[in-house]
Amino acid sequence: MRRKFVCGNWKMFKTGSEGADLVRELRQRVSTQAQIAVAPPFTALESVKQALAGASIQLFAQNCHFEKQGAFTGEVSAPMLKALGCDGVILGHSERRQHFGETDETVNKRLKAALEAQLHPIVCIGETLAEREANRTWEVVSRQIRGAFAGLDAATIARTTLAYEPVWAIGTGKTATTAQAQEVHAQIRGLLRELAGQAGADAIRIQYGGSVKPENAAELMAQPDVDGALVGGASLKADDFARIIAGAR
Ligand code: 13P
Repeated sequence: MRRKFVCGNWKMFKTGSEGADLVRELRQRVSTQAQIAVAPPFTALESVKQALAGASIQLFAQNCHFEKQGAFTGEVSAPMLKALGCDGVILGHSERRQHFGETDETVNKRLKAALEAQLHPIVCIGETLAEREANRTWEVVSRQIRGAFAGLDAATIARTTLAYEPVWAIGTGKTATTAQAQEVHAQIRGLLRELAGQAGADAIRIQYGGSVKPENAAELMAQPDVDGALVGGASLKADDFARIIAGAR
């Protein structure tokens, strides 16, 4: 039985003090067996960490560079995030692929750096609307997964979480139906059997992301291969995020 895992991706929202206020409210509201994390922008990590002291909510970053240090203006490394107290990091989000030139190859390098720094990675994958309409969903998603995990052995792959986020469902209010989500999640589980072995495939959590709301979260997460959620907009309100978490059983 996989433990459900719900992470709030704050994207480029919330200053340090706004973020601290949000998690102070959230921690009052959350009582769950599930794994819970928030991923604030880099500038809010420190104050959110302080506001989370003693809570079971984990702290994730939204990206990391693949080198440990160096002349990479504007970037932040995995060991730096670890030293700050981060538990994990989101990698390969579609917004990074779309706007910042991330490729399967750079996601693979960042994933290796995150694992080396003992950060728990959430690797994002998902097709665009044009790709879905051209019946290329599985071609794209399987290529992204194989690319992200290139050169990693089964035991290492088993230390990751995947997030299936169809790009057409992100921030659009258009959630994948439970059947659409489960179909792709089941295909992903099948590929994980090949890449990580039966035990690895059984252990790896596959989150769904894309317009997850209090109204649809429980039904999505009740699907056999949907092991949690990566939540954008609705994670910015303590009440909505707490209600989503309550749906993770
Ligand atoms: P929304 O929940 O705002 O659609 O965003 C999903 C997402 O991109 C989470 O990483």
